[in-house]
Amino acid sequence: MANKLSTEAYKGTRDFYPQEMAVQRYIFDTWAKTAESFGFERYDASLLEPAELYRSKTSEEIVNEQTYTFTDRGDREVTLRPEMTPTVARMVAGKRRDLTFPVRWYSIPNLFRYERPQRGRLREHWQLNCDMFGADTYVADIEMIALASKVLTSFGASPDMFQIRINDRAWLNKIFKDEGFTSEQGAAMLALLDRKEKITNFSEEAEKIAGKKFTLPESFEVQSHLAQVVTGLAELGITNVVFSPSTVRGFTYYTGVIFEIFDTSKANNRSLLGGGRYDNLTALFGGDAITGIGFGMGDVTMKDFLETHKLIPKNISVTAPTLAIIPMQESFFLDGQKIAEQFRNEGISTFVDISDRKIGKKLATASEAGSAYVLVVGEDEIVSQKFTLKKLATKSEKTGTITELANSLL
Ligand code: HAM
Repeated sequence: MANKLSTEAYKGTRDFYPQEMAVQRYIFDTWAKTAESFGFERYDASLLEPAELYRSKTSEEIVNEQTYTFTDRGDREVTLRPEMTPTVARMVAGKRRDLTFPVRWYSIPNLFRYERPQRGRLREHWQLNCDMFGADTYVADIEMIALASKVLTSFGASPDMFQIRINDRAWLNKIFKDEGFTSEQGAAMLALLDRKEKITNFSEEAEKIAGKKFTLPESFEVQSHLAQVVTGLAELGITNVVFSPSTVRGFTYYTGVIFEIFDTSKANNRSLLGGGRYDNLTALFGGDAITGIGFGMGDVTMKDFLETHKLIPKNISVTAPTLAIIPMQESFFLDGQKIAEQFRNEGISTFVDISDRKIGKKLATASEAGSAYVLVVGEDEIVSQKFTLKKLATKSEKTGTITELANSLL
């Protein structure tokens, strides 16, 4: 006999059994509601993209080491999307003539990266993506960071639970230019800054790249754009913001403000969210560039954050149907289905217990699953077409036709 197949999900991916799906849905619903409260409209796309979309401008690490790329039957190179930003830039560029800018769009795509699975990092994750196109005022930067912060507070998080780190690529590029760096030196310095928190010999490494001593100013006062953004955020009541010269973000497309949000609890040292302004992604598709700014927030770190801070509501559970129909014996199963259909047509979620368990057990199951009402179907009920509806919480009963009972439930 052949080896038995494994019941495990593919490495680095998750199965969502109903209980986990309930939490996932809670996260997605809260994301969607918050994005929509800022006027963002939902979009989506296929998870397959031509591989070349990521070659021209994204992160070398992601393209060379982390994409799932294959050749299709028509010899096209196809990639499972590792991020949503190139896709949304493609979509905006494709409809540029029809859109009224600024455009505010959001999506909750699943993304694929061939990473070493570990806490906070998997091979498939979902990401809330919010992006605004066609507005380059500093107030747009403020709005995006305020939205990012609002997503967390919408889950009940308080500002001391997370820290918003901001920096500016344009400012870094200017410093590199003033230092006389070549573009290779600039790129190497960005990559080094990206690793700053993880290494101990930053200054030595920086000196190697620069060919002289190199340090970055530690205060954002030196940088008027960031000062404006930080002051504006404070006016909106958002003060858990820090200037972080070593926050650089891995993607090459960022050109302006960049930001990341971290959990202040040491249990989760991965970023919850990352984003920034990118000025020329849309230009890859022809025409003038349309400026964009946005962020991605992952579901894996989001759930870790909610668990760490005990923010997952207790009453999240698999949604039980409101009404459980319990036929007394198998010969009434089909009658049960007919009755259920009438309740469903009145907008009441209903299921029929077609198991061979005893009536008492069926009643207990309905109650445990969280149904609010039960209706037992026996010979008398079928003949008279009068049924007795029982409310489980109060044990109160009501008898009548299906229409009467359905109306009393509404
Ligand atoms: P990113 O920093 O690669 O940015 O990802 C954003 C967030 O997605 C991270 O902070 C993390 O929460 C989550 N994330 C990333 N990779 C994984 C993974 N392997 N497993 C679990 N969670 C992960 C971007 O992707 C940009 N495209 C975001 C953006 C949108 N920039 C502008 N608009």
